[in-house]
Amino acid sequence: MTTPDSASSLPIDAPAGAPPRRHPADGADGADSTRRAARRLRVLRAATALGAAAGLAGIALGFLAPSRAGMAAGVALAYLGLSTAVIGRHRARLARALPAPREGATLVIYASQSGFGGQVAQHTAQALQDAGVPAQCLSFDQVEAGRLARCPQVLFVVSTTGEGDAPDSAAGFARRLSAAAGAGGLRELRYGILALGDRSYASFCAFGHALSAWLQRQHAQALFDMVEVDNGDSGALRHWQNHLSALGGGVEIADWDKPRYADWQLAERRLLNAGSPGAPAFHLALAPPAGAPAPGWQAGDIAEIGPRLSPAEVARVLGKLRLDGATPVRCDGVDATLAQALATRIVLPEPHLAALAGVAPQRLVDTLPPLPHREYSIASLPADGRLELLVRQTRHDDGRLGLASGWLTEHAAPGAAIALRIRANRGFHPPADDRPLILIGNGTGLAGLRAHLKARAAAGRHRNWLLFGERTAQHDAFHHDELAAWRAGGVLERMDLVYSRDGGALRYVQDAVRAHAGTLREWVQDGAAIYVCGSLKGMAGGVSDALAEVLGEEALLRLGEEGRYRRDVY
Ligand SMILES: Cc1cc2nc3c(=O)[nH]c(=O)nc-3n(C[C@H](O)[C@H](O)[C@H](O)COP(=O)(O)OP(=O)(O)OC[C@H]3O[C@@H](n4cnc5c(N)ncnc54)[C@H](O)[C@@H]3O)c2cc1C
Ligand SMILES: Cc1cc2nc3c(=O)[nH]c(=O)nc-3n(C[C@H](O)[C@H](O)[C@H](O)COP(=O)(O)O)c2cc1C
Repeated sequence: MTTPDSASSLPIDAPAGAPPRRHPADGADGADSTRRAARRLRVLRAATALGAAAGLAGIALGFLAPSRAGMAAGVALAYLGLSTAVIGRHRARLARALPAPREGATLVIYASQSGFGGQVAQHTAQALQDAGVPAQCLSFDQVEAGRLARCPQVLFVVSTTGEGDAPDSAAGFARRLSAAAGAGGLRELRYGILALGDRSYASFCAFGHALSAWLQRQHAQALFDMVEVDNGDSGALRHWQNHLSALGGGVEIADWDKPRYADWQLAERRLLNAGSPGAPAFHLALAPPAGAPAPGWQAGDIAEIGPRLSPAEVARVLGKLRLDGATPVRCDGVDATLAQALATRIVLPEPHLAALAGVAPQRLVDTLPPLPHREYSIASLPADGRLELLVRQTRHDDGRLGLASGWLTEHAAPGAAIALRIRANRGFHPPADDRPLILIGNGTGLAGLRAHLKARAAAGRHRNWLLFGERTAQHDAFHHDELAAWRAGGVLERMDLVYSRDGGALRYVQDAVRAHAGTLREWVQDGAAIYVCGSLKGMAGGVSDALAEVLGEEALLRLGEEGRYRRDVY
C-alpha cells in the first residue's frame, strides 16, 4: 500500500489566520509548534482532570452499590473514573484493566509515533468495554496476518508522521495485510477510523486516508466516515466519542471533554411532516446568545447540543430521593437550583438511584456525570440571524423520547435556553470555487444540504443539483416552498425528489442516481463535487454503491481523495 498525498485538490476555505503549510523540520517557527503542543496537552489535562473527579465519584458510588459494576451506571462512572483519569498517566495500568481478548471482540488497532494515538486507543477500548462491547487494544505490529479477515469490527486510531508517512509500527502493514487479503477480501469487516494529524503539514492525515482507501478497496464496511483530528482538536475527539456512544447501543457515556456551551434561545419550533408515516420531524430556529459577539459558522458545520432531562424525569428523581428541587446548589461553576442541576446529569438506573437516598444535594450534583452532547447539522447561515435545525424525534421501544431529540422537540418550552456549541466540520465545508455541486440526501439530511444551497445562492453559484428522498410527497416535502423557489429562480439547475411510499418507478434517492447516470457523469466530468448528507443506514451505503456503479469504483475513490466526494452521514 502506498500513502498518497491526501491534500485536497478541491480548495476548501481555510480559517482566517490559518498557518501556512510546512514541515517543522524545514526551519519551522518553534513558538508555533510549542503553542500547538501546549494546546494538545491542555486537552489531555482537561480529560485527566475530568476523569480524576469522576473517579472519586465512581469510588463513592462503588461504596454505595458495590455489586453492580457491570451496569449502565457503572459504565458512566467507571468509564470516566478509570479511563479518563488514566490518559496521559497510567497507560500500562489501564492496559491491565482491559480483560483478556475474546474471539469476536472489537479490535482497537493503533499506529502512533509519539504516543498520543496509543492513549486515545486505550481510552477508546476502555469506553467500549465499559459500555458492554468487548474490546481489545493492539498496536499495528501486534496484528498478525489474517486477523482482520476473522474480525467482525475494528476501530483504527492512526497518526501520520514524517511527510505523510505511516508511524513505524505500521510500516510493514501494507505488505503483510495485502498478502493476507486480496481486493475485496474484507467484506465482512466493519470499521471506523480516527486519523490523527496536523493541518500545518502538507499531507494532512495521509496515513489515515491511505488506510481508508485500502479498506474501501477490500470492500470492508465503514461504520461511519473517517474522523480527522487536527492537532488533538477536542471537538473532533468528541465527535469520535459520539460514534462510540452509538456503538455502545444507547448507554450514556459522559463526554471526555465537555463542550463549552452558550445559551441560545428556542425561538421557533414547527412540525414539518404532520400525517407522515415516519417519525415527527421539526424545524427549529434558535436565537443567538444575547449580548455575545455574533456567532460565525459555515455551511456543513455542526451544532453540539447539551440536552436536558424532562421536568417529569427530574421530578421523578427528586421524589425518589426525597429532595427539594428548589435547594440552591453550584453546578458547573454557576448557581442553580437542584432541579436545574439534575436536569443536566446522567440519571442512574433504579438500584443505584435508590442507593443515593440521603446523599447531600451538592454532593449528588458533584457526583453524577454530565449528560453527553448530541450533534445536529446546521441548516442555516449566520446571515439568517438564527441557527436552524431539522430534528427527527427519536422514540425508544419503551416509549421514552430520545435524550436530545426529546428535549429539542418536546420538553424544551418555547423561549427556553438551549445549551449549544458550534463545531467546525471542515470535511463538509463548501467548495471554495464555483465548480458544480451535486447534493444528495434523505430525511433530516436536508438540513446540511439546505445550508449549502443557501451558501451557493448567496455566492451566485447556480450550477447545483439536488437529489432528495423522503417517504411521501403529501406529508414529507420538507421546506418545499423554499426548494421550489430555488428551482424557479435558477439556484437549483436540477432537482429530483424521490418519495419511497408514493409508488412510481424510483423509490430511493440511490435509484435516482442510477436513473440519471449519464447526466451525473457529465456533471462530474465538468468538475462537480458530490456532497451527501443524511442517514448512514440505507441511504449513504446505497448512494455510495450507486455512485460506484455509475462512475466506477476507482473513480469514486479518486473523487474522495481529491475532496470531491464528501459526506456528513449519521
Ligand atoms: C454529524 C451528525 C449530524 C447529525 N445531524 C442530525 C440532524 O440534522 N437531524 C437529526 O434529527 N439528527 C441528526 N443526527 C443524529 C442525532 O445526533 C442523534 O443521534 C439523534 O437525534 C438521536 O439522539 P437522541 O439523544 O434523541 O436519542 P438517544 O436517546 O440517543 O437514543 C437514540 C438511539 O440512537 C443511538 N444513538 C445515539 N447517538 C447516535 C449516533 N450519533 N448515531 C447512531 N446512533 C446513535 C443511541 O445509542 C440510542 O439507542 C446527527 C448525528 C451526527 C453524528
Ligand atoms: C515529525 C512529525 C511529522 C509529522 N508529519 C505529519 C504529516 O505529514 N501529516 C499530518 O497530518 N500530521 C503530521 N504530524 C502530526 C501528528 O500526526 C500529530 O501530532 C499526531 O497527533 C501525533 O500522534 P502520535 O503521537 O500518535 O504519533 C507530524 C508530527 C511530527 C512530530
